[in-house]
Amino acid sequence: MIDGKKVLFSGMQATGTLTLGNYLGALQNWVKLSDEYECFYSVVDLHSITVRQEPAELRKRARNLLTLYIAAGLNPEKNCIYYQSHVSGHAELSWILNCFTYMGELNRMTQYKDKAAKHADNINAGLFTYPVLMAADILLYQTDVVPVGNDQLQHLEITRDIAQRFNAIYGDVFTIPEPYIGKQGARIMSLQEPTKKMSKSDENANASVYLLDKPDDIMRKFKRAVTDSEGVIAYNDNQPGVRNLLDIYCSCKGITPDEAVKEFDGKGYAELKTAVGETVVSVLKPVQDEFERLGKDKAYIDGIIKANAEKANYFATKTLRKVQKKVGFPERIR
Ligand code: TYM
Repeated sequence: MIDGKKVLFSGMQATGTLTLGNYLGALQNWVKLSDEYECFYSVVDLHSITVRQEPAELRKRARNLLTLYIAAGLNPEKNCIYYQSHVSGHAELSWILNCFTYMGELNRMTQYKDKAAKHADNINAGLFTYPVLMAADILLYQTDVVPVGNDQLQHLEITRDIAQRFNAIYGDVFTIPEPYIGKQGARIMSLQEPTKKMSKSDENANASVYLLDKPDDIMRKFKRAVTDSEGVIAYNDNQPGVRNLLDIYCSCKGITPDEAVKEFDGKGYAELKTAVGETVVSVLKPVQDEFERLGKDKAYIDGIIKANAEKANYFATKTLRKVQKKVGFPERIR
């Protein structure tokens, strides 16, 4: 609890350009929850270097991502929006938690298996212990709730296991966090292969809608979206392409699949695709405009970065000192 409010933590990687999946699965919910909780939203640049990055490009993407958080509607004066690398407590707590995490547990992580397969020439230890750093991110702020998409659930589970294990040894040190998964949009699929998750790293640019895509490109991508030959707009497992379009529509509009199916009763796929495309364009337009405006205000963004790094450090250090004491590190002499 901070000032009587429960704590929310979440983060995104600054690798690639944000997709509609990131927006509907996470960012949109962050904005919805931001009044209710004391929030920490991190640009997780430490996680990004588990895969090789071009330094200048990473720096630029990280800044763009931080700006996008604000452009999407997070008030940086109320919410702590900051770079993970500006708070050394993340790495310090991560080391300690590494000593409370088992190899067997990490071996089971599906994201690790996927990434190891994709980057077979660089299966580094960071890629393996990635979930431990994520646990440190969350536990450092005594987080109650973590809004994420479906793909991060396994990492939330291991975070809870590590926290419970630590608490069982040392007493109530960490708050046990709960995931928050939105009703719709928790798993947005590729527009080209709707059985696969929409991902920043997809090589096929038509598979993903990016947050900063121009309206024409968004419409074109939806028009080309893979559907099926059923010819009926229904929400079921046999029509993953149509279901994904409906999920996107529902998540943008805040309606249920039943309501959407009724709305499109008797209509064809072309009409569905156009309607979904237009809805996405209208949701993203204000974010894009604000992103452009903020991008020109360097001093403002710099001020946010500085003030929020201080705020995050303050709360992170509180937890870190407690943990260091519990495990037996010597007290600091002032
Ligand atoms: P990342 O950067 O891959 O994704 C950021 C957020 O977007 C969600 N997401 C999706 N949701 C729905 N459909 C999709 N197709 C889709 N693709 C991505 C993700 O679930 C996530 O919520 N390891 C994390 C970043 C992280 C983190 C944390 C998150 C680091 N530390 C602590 C929460 C708490 C990641 O790589 O997310």
